[in-house]
Amino acid sequence: MSARTEISGDVALITIDNPPLDTMNITLRKDLVAALDAVEAAAVQRVILTGSGGTFVAGADVKEGDAPPDVPSMPEIIARIEGFPVPVIAAINGVALGEGLELALGCRMRIATPDATFAFPAVSLGLVPGAGGTQRLPRLIGIGPALELIAQGRTIGSDAAIKLGLVDAVEADPVAAARTIAPSALSEYPAVSARPAPAADDDAVSSAVATASRKQRGQVAPARAIALVADSARLSMAEGLAAERAAFLELRGSEQNLALQHVFCAERAANARSRGLGAASGPLATAVVVGGGTMGAGIAYALDTIGIRVTLVEVDDAAAARTRANVIRLFDDAVKRGKARAASAGEARIPVVVGYDGLPAADIAIEAVFEDLAVKRQVFAALDAALPETTILATNTSYLDPNRLNEGLRAPQRFVGLHFFSPAHVMKLVEVIRARATAPETLARVLELATRLGKLPVLAGVCDGFIGNRILTRYRQACDVMLIEGALPDQVDAALREFGMAMGPYEVQDLSGLDIAYANRKRLGWRDNPAIRYIPIADRIVEETGRLGRKTGAGWYDYGSSGQTPSARINALVEAESGRAGITRRSFGPDEIVARAMAAMASEGLAILQEGIADSPADIDLVLIHGYGFPRWRGGPMHMAERAGLAALLARLERLAVEDPLSWPIPEILRRAVTEGRSLTELARTE
Ligand code: NAI
Repeated sequence: MSARTEISGDVALITIDNPPLDTMNITLRKDLVAALDAVEAAAVQRVILTGSGGTFVAGADVKEGDAPPDVPSMPEIIARIEGFPVPVIAAINGVALGEGLELALGCRMRIATPDATFAFPAVSLGLVPGAGGTQRLPRLIGIGPALELIAQGRTIGSDAAIKLGLVDAVEADPVAAARTIAPSALSEYPAVSARPAPAADDDAVSSAVATASRKQRGQVAPARAIALVADSARLSMAEGLAAERAAFLELRGSEQNLALQHVFCAERAANARSRGLGAASGPLATAVVVGGGTMGAGIAYALDTIGIRVTLVEVDDAAAARTRANVIRLFDDAVKRGKARAASAGEARIPVVVGYDGLPAADIAIEAVFEDLAVKRQVFAALDAALPETTILATNTSYLDPNRLNEGLRAPQRFVGLHFFSPAHVMKLVEVIRARATAPETLARVLELATRLGKLPVLAGVCDGFIGNRILTRYRQACDVMLIEGALPDQVDAALREFGMAMGPYEVQDLSGLDIAYANRKRLGWRDNPAIRYIPIADRIVEETGRLGRKTGAGWYDYGSSGQTPSARINALVEAESGRAGITRRSFGPDEIVARAMAAMASEGLAILQEGIADSPADIDLVLIHGYGFPRWRGGPMHMAERAGLAALLARLERLAVEDPLSWPIPEILRRAVTEGRSLTELARTE
């Protein structure tokens, strides 16, 4: 039974215990109704509702997300609890999320443990609360605080909950407290729906609307949630509940709901997989990081925050001094953000040394030096000589081949790629690259480390650029083709921003520097490669104009007092290049720009799946969302392709390939998926 009933004297205790995740699902709903029936028949004087372990109820079961709602529904159960012949008290013993919190709001009184947490995650899944949350919460705590919890999905603890009036008492043993409260005191707590409607708060509502349009751009659910909470001030409880349920049922199963649910499940699967591998040896406790530039300093700092003892290695005294300054800046920033870490501690906590003499033994060494095969190989040879044979050796390379970087090492099975994203202490994504020789134990240990760092690890095999940078390269290439055929950089950027990308591809290049992609194209020998359609625009910008992006004050765009503006010079260069290639320019509308860019991403993702570089299409989506500013609420390029239909993608690619076969190779796995009518996830599993 997922809801157990114990009756002692005139008190009934209903304990929810619904493993494995303690979520609300049809089993629990049915068991709750059965428990309420039993309790009602027993003629007790009060009912206490509690959870087990560290959870009250952890929200709705996302697995039920796209099935038709099943009875008994949550609103029915909560209405029954609210109108129960005797008071029902929620003894909130831990996490109370979404429908769990709504269940508690249906009770007369809420008593929570000091470590309980409260949140409404509905909007993060493209939904609004569907069991009275938008109407009961504002009646209890007011419109402004209710908006913060519901529209922004803020999580709060018991301290904040009692100040807001969300809970009535905080007690170490809330069940015991609920048993002893006097009946006269209990009668002072009316049902939440019987309380007066909250006062309207136009300022809070407009500020929530402004926050949502800034932070949740493109998403439907936050605006709906705000409107429902705002309406609680003017609608009756019955009207408000009806409006909320209608909005909930409308959003349930919507494209945004499915996309956000897909990402949520993909994240959970990625985290579960890294926990599930289980390293035989203990957690990594000491580390060496080589190179303390943009990436190395951030990686060292992140390791320090989880208590790993780190030593940074630099190439000479001048570089060591720069690295110290980088590290101190990170500690300074943490202090400014209110994290209590003394800035001056940075230098003492993370020693920076030159060379490898006397390096302390370390469980892991992470290399983050210049992107140069020879330099990196020298570093690994030195690390191999200076550190025990048991030390894991990891590279943060963006593109270079780990199967070559590990050549000549004593124990190549301890070599692995750990591709962090910039800034390394902030970005959640880490691509964990398995080289041919990488041992499962090595993977298990670095995955454990990534999880401890609070990262989202995604496993990838070896290819140029791994999952993310390989797709990025292809995406940019597709955009460059549009430039030469008639689009302008700001049109491409605007269309993709409007679609939901955090930034357009050209403004991103201006931010990271045009020289980086230039060096990469050179390394790949694109100019002379007959197998790809080479578009020389970006190379000409670097070679002829010296405009390398923001750092030189100009790149694809001009940067002046009025900020980023399209550049007449670059637009003329783009047009001239079309002329040189004998192309008659034509216009590209935003829909076509987005469709082509997405087709390129999905098609490269398919090739990546076919080659076994990524384990699943969902992993590819996670990389794009967490590393490249792809809008979460669209679910990622692979999810989008499957939702729109793989046959439609195949037809599009075939059309594009007629005119431009070099840019649009068609992955075999796509033809197979379409012919066999199978999903990409199924096909990836059988590859
Ligand atoms: P960076 O130029 O900021 O830093 C490189 C650091 O390595 C410098 O401090 C330099 O003094 C040091 N270094 C160079 N040779 C060395 C040697 N032989 N021994 C010890 N230290 C040495 O470079 P960044 O951006 O931090 O990149 C480092 C690596 O991380 C590259 O492989 C890059 O591809 C990769 N990466 C960079 C990302 C980024 O956004 N910057 C993102 C992900 C990976």
